[in-house]
Amino acid sequence: MTCPYPYPSPPLPLSVLNAAAANEPAAMQSFYADLRERCVLLFDPDSNGWIAAHPALAQAALQHPDLGVRPPGQAVPADLRGRPLGAVFALWLRMRDDAPRAAEKLAVQAALEGLAPTFLQQVSKQQAELALPLGWSHWQWASLPCIVASLLGIKMTQAADQQRLLTKLAALAMALKPPAERALLDAADQAIADLAEELRACAAGPLARALQTQAQELARADTPDWWQAQALGLLWQGYEAGAGLLGQALLAAARSAASAPPDLAGCHSLLQAVLERPGVIHHTRRWALRDCVLGGQHLRAGAALWVVLAGGEPAPPALLGFGQGRHQCPGQALSLHIAAAALWQALQAPALQAAPQCLGHEALANARIPKLMEPAR
Ligand code: HEM
Repeated sequence: MTCPYPYPSPPLPLSVLNAAAANEPAAMQSFYADLRERCVLLFDPDSNGWIAAHPALAQAALQHPDLGVRPPGQAVPADLRGRPLGAVFALWLRMRDDAPRAAEKLAVQAALEGLAPTFLQQVSKQQAELALPLGWSHWQWASLPCIVASLLGIKMTQAADQQRLLTKLAALAMALKPPAERALLDAADQAIADLAEELRACAAGPLARALQTQAQELARADTPDWWQAQALGLLWQGYEAGAGLLGQALLAAARSAASAPPDLAGCHSLLQAVLERPGVIHHTRRWALRDCVLGGQHLRAGAALWVVLAGGEPAPPALLGFGQGRHQCPGQALSLHIAAAALWQALQAPALQAAPQCLGHEALANARIPKLMEPAR
């Protein structure tokens, strides 16, 4: 069992909080198509937030200097403050809009871009091969974060190593979905401590070495754990998004099973199709850092927004599945490369040619992650 979430069906009508988990693709597509036609910000009383759904509004929100990724004055959620998880959270690029992060983002991007494609291919194949015997669900959740872990130098030579990593990432997932109980926060702190210790103790892999070099160039001597926090952030970012991308792509491959299994280029095309319609990350959150205006609508400091990233018909002018602007995903090229290799490996595994069954979708507001099960034999 690799997935930490319960599986309720989303109630109708669909809303921005449950559309990503809808089991009926047509209903979900039509929900987003209606939203995307609205050229103004919509206020959603249920979530007490504004929805930026029209592609032009969504792009403007992602580029807006006064819209940040955390509510003003709350750099770290109250229940994480003073905890090890809170300390790394405060350094994650995804959670900051302060001035130094622009240089840090370039540093992390450079570290990711420096990884050799042939080595990425080799590590992806190894990790997918280790994961596949444990079933589709394990392969779906394990592949991307275990490839990143292996690139960092963390020992990933057995399926049990992969399971241990997934248990830790599941602990982070539970703690990062408020309100989390104290026991869940303690478990996440322990996971952070364990992962930090593994990073300290292992022989640094190419990604860890690249992050360490970048840390020296940034002169982050004030924060010796900077590179480790970024490493943990990269592990975390590939977890749910990776499971959604691989899960959806595997189901798409199964639907086209009449044709021959795709080659590596075909796997890239499948991933691209997943990202275009509807995509994996369906929306992201922003808060007004100060009073400001978006699309003609005045927003008071602290106002919350849902920025819709989901693709669909008609195709939006720009693909937003990896975000845009200063928080755009720096793992886009890496994740497409390693996901294609992991998918290709899966489609060639003779014992696993039987298509997976889809049991529905994880009950997550922002990500569409199919729940995969082995077919009945
Ligand atoms: C190994 C895989 C991945 C890594 C290492 C990674 C890394 C990251 C990082 C560090 C950020 C924060 C960037 C910032 O705030 O400046 C980010 C943002 C993002 N990532 Fe990825 N990512 C991965 C996979 C994916 C995948 C597979 C998807 C979607 C299918 C995705 C979608 C996004 C989106 C939409 C954002 C922007 C969120 C926002 O603007 O609020 N990522 N990613």
